Amino acid sequence: MWKISVLLIGASGSLGAPLLEELKRQKASFARVAILTAPDRASKFDGAGVEVITKSFYDSTTYLGFTHVISAVGNQLMILQPAMVEAAVAAGVQHFYASDWNSDISQKDIYDMRYFRDKQAVRAYLRQKAATTPGFQYTLMITGIFTEWTVDHDSCTARLFGQPGQRVGVTSISDIARYTIDSLHVSFQGAGRTVRIQGWTGSVEDLVAALEEARGRKYTVTYEDVAKAKEEGARLSGDDVQEMMYSIKPLLTSGAGVADGTGELDNHLFQFEPEHPVQTFQRLFGSG
Ligand SMILES: NC(=O)c1ccc[n+]([C@@H]2O[C@H](COP(=O)([O-])OP(=O)(O)OC[C@H]3O[C@@H](n4cnc5c(N)ncnc54)[C@H](OP(=O)(O)O)[C@@H]3O)[C@@H](O)[C@H]2O)c1
Repeated sequence: MWKISVLLIGASGSLGAPLLEELKRQKASFARVAILTAPDRASKFDGAGVEVITKSFYDSTTYLGFTHVISAVGNQLMILQPAMVEAAVAAGVQHFYASDWNSDISQKDIYDMRYFRDKQAVRAYLRQKAATTPGFQYTLMITGIFTEWTVDHDSCTARLFGQPGQRVGVTSISDIARYTIDSLHVSFQGAGRTVRIQGWTGSVEDLVAALEEARGRKYTVTYEDVAKAKEEGARLSGDDVQEMMYSIKPLLTSGAGVADGTGELDNHLFQFEPEHPVQTFQRLFGSG
């Protein structure tokens, strides 16, 4: 039977680490599982329990022998993914998962948001690359907002930038990891696909209520409109990552922080039920 050989980039990241755990859990279903990291970052993977490759992300020999690459790189490396794909395709990689895992960023309301600019550029590159490279495929995972990342948990405050009453879609990080690794076994025809999954959707107020229920504590919720000024300040300071992070603050209360903005969900392709936010928050915080 033909088996997939997977190379994961960004394996210690907030999503990369759960992806690695899920790959290890499903290791028997793959011919080979390895992670790729820069030589100066490799020591943290001592004892990782999988093959660790410490070579350049931009050298084609790095990717020899792998059929699939999952890129879970963070903001700093986002725009460099086309160079990784060029190297990977030259080595024979057939399928590339770009670092996406967003809300549906095809929606007009958030299409231009600074945080997503590099991702939009990577998507445009992948469309072109796949159209001109027979046999090469790519996947974009659309997940809504990570449940764990929605509001400030430590101080029991939800400082929101926008208007009340908006819909939001969330998925827990562990479920996202499972959907992503399970999707490696779901084949498709054509050059590229978007896989939309979402653990739960409701109003932002319902999400805060789930958090309150799980923790047994009341949250203080405020609505503010200062994100634009902060974004402008960050832009003028030339700090790209800060600019990206401030630009995304209004997403939760924008009504566009969902996976099913312009298309139907694909949850039916998978064989498990995702967590409700109350379960995720209970798992995170115990009884509060
Ligand atoms: N929808 C949501 O709510 C949501 C929330 C968070 C993240 N995301 C998305 O999930 C994806 C992964 O994000 P993340 O937060 O997990 O990323 P992250 O933790 O910031 O970084 C992921 C990995 O990128 C590599 N990396 C970062 N900076 C590097 C550098 N200067 N040199 C070499 N390697 C570097 C590291 O790999 P090593 O492990 O090899 O060191 C790191 O572990 C992104 O697409 C992000 O936008 C979505």
